[in-house]
Amino acid sequence: MNVTALIMAAGMGTRMRSKTPKVLHPICGRALLHWPITAAEEAGITDVVVICSPDERVKESLPDWVKAVEQPQALGTGDAIKCARDCISADSDIVILSGDHPLVNSETVKLLIDEHRESDAVATLATAELDDPSGYGRIVRDSNGEFLKIVETKVQGDASESELGLNEINTGLYCFKGGRLLEELEKLEAGNAQNEIYLGDVLPPLIESGEKVVALKMEDSEFALGINTRVGLAVVTDLAQQRILRDLMLGGVTVVDPRSTQIDVGVRIGADTVIEPFSSIKGVSEIGSDVTIGPATSVQDSRIGDGSSVAHSFLVECIVGRGCSVGPFAYLRPGAQLGDGAKAGTFVEIKNSQIGAGTKVPHLSYIGDADVGDEANIGAGNITANYDGNEKHRTKIGDRVKTGVDTSFVAPVAVGDDAYTGAGSVIDEDVPEGALGISRAAQKNVDGYAERKKKKEQEE
Ligand code: UD1
Ligand code: CA
Repeated sequence: MNVTALIMAAGMGTRMRSKTPKVLHPICGRALLHWPITAAEEAGITDVVVICSPDERVKESLPDWVKAVEQPQALGTGDAIKCARDCISADSDIVILSGDHPLVNSETVKLLIDEHRESDAVATLATAELDDPSGYGRIVRDSNGEFLKIVETKVQGDASESELGLNEINTGLYCFKGGRLLEELEKLEAGNAQNEIYLGDVLPPLIESGEKVVALKMEDSEFALGINTRVGLAVVTDLAQQRILRDLMLGGVTVVDPRSTQIDVGVRIGADTVIEPFSSIKGVSEIGSDVTIGPATSVQDSRIGDGSSVAHSFLVECIVGRGCSVGPFAYLRPGAQLGDGAKAGTFVEIKNSQIGAGTKVPHLSYIGDADVGDEANIGAGNITANYDGNEKHRTKIGDRVKTGVDTSFVAPVAVGDDAYTGAGSVIDEDVPEGALGISRAAQKNVDGYAERKKKKEQEE
């Protein structure tokens, strides 16, 4: 394709007031910077360079195929591109993207490149009209509508009163012929109100030397929204979220209340699944078909099989099979695995455990570090005592085991297939296959107790 994409991501992001670099703040589960990287990738650009601050965290976040170039000091967008000059080849087209514009998509990038090539311009910049253009660089055109220059408005002093009234903005997305960009970069200086080197300042000299510069106004103005503060982060997150939900809905997923639903980018959900209100599905998660999630359910980095239902529950890094029932009010923690048709019911917490197919854990239990076989039934209030203060141990419960209510398993311990435990038992020795394990003090009835108590009270 002979295109290099340069993504500017070295700004300080001071307006975010954060310890985290601005471009690493997430939008729907993907860092800001990774949205334009994905847009470039989906537009077919294989040569992508990110201009980073010396902060290692940004570099570390990059996939292997993306190059990093360091800008030692954030002296402005023009300086950022200067720092990447070794990546600019004179006979390539150079697409420049801003790391703080996550809503840019591959269509917009492709449109820009196509227009740039068709019009044989030396530079093409994408612009948009915004109702509230405050803070953005404005596009100044002559009386024929031809592009003249960009004026910056972040601080007072660069733009005149009439220029401040313009609402066509610079989106920070450009395409240049590499050779001419290299030449003009060398001449760039900081002579403006912010004392920064503005990338847009390369454009007027190109026009003066009689070359073609096109300002292409894009119909999609959402991608023009850059993020400078956490308010902008929330506005853009909302737009990104509604796009994700829209795509899911068009793919056959019912989202009952899109306003109260959060689903991360990249989450896969099968057809005829229903997402009830106040639910979120985050990270690398995959939900099958005909599943019901919610209401009020959080799923993170988990897989849920076809036909399962999960209500009022919290699931992290777990795998739920097909036709399972989870909740209301279940907590499935990392390493919980439910076989097909299994149940984790009300006030049940499961961690690092295998629950076999068809096995039910219906009420008030903690199952940690356990391997439970198929078709077993765990009585109400069962607890695995998996931690001896130093180490975790496993509990093994066989197929078709039925445990009485309030059984405690002091691990390491094993219960054989088809065995039973008695209600209230503390099981700290293995129970053989088919046996009943029972360990509780025998009941004693004290006859006439109530009568004697009454008499004593009357005497006092
Ligand atoms: C910039 C544009 C403005 C445009 C707006 C769109 C300039 C001078 N202004 O303004 O015309 O309307 O974007 O959102 O270009 N960056 C670096 N190194 C630096 C400075 C910035 O890599 O030294 C990166 C930032 O991380 C960011 C991008 O460049 O991703 C834009 O920088 P920012 O400071 O946010 O520019 P704006 O003031 O928003
Ligand atoms: Ca910005």
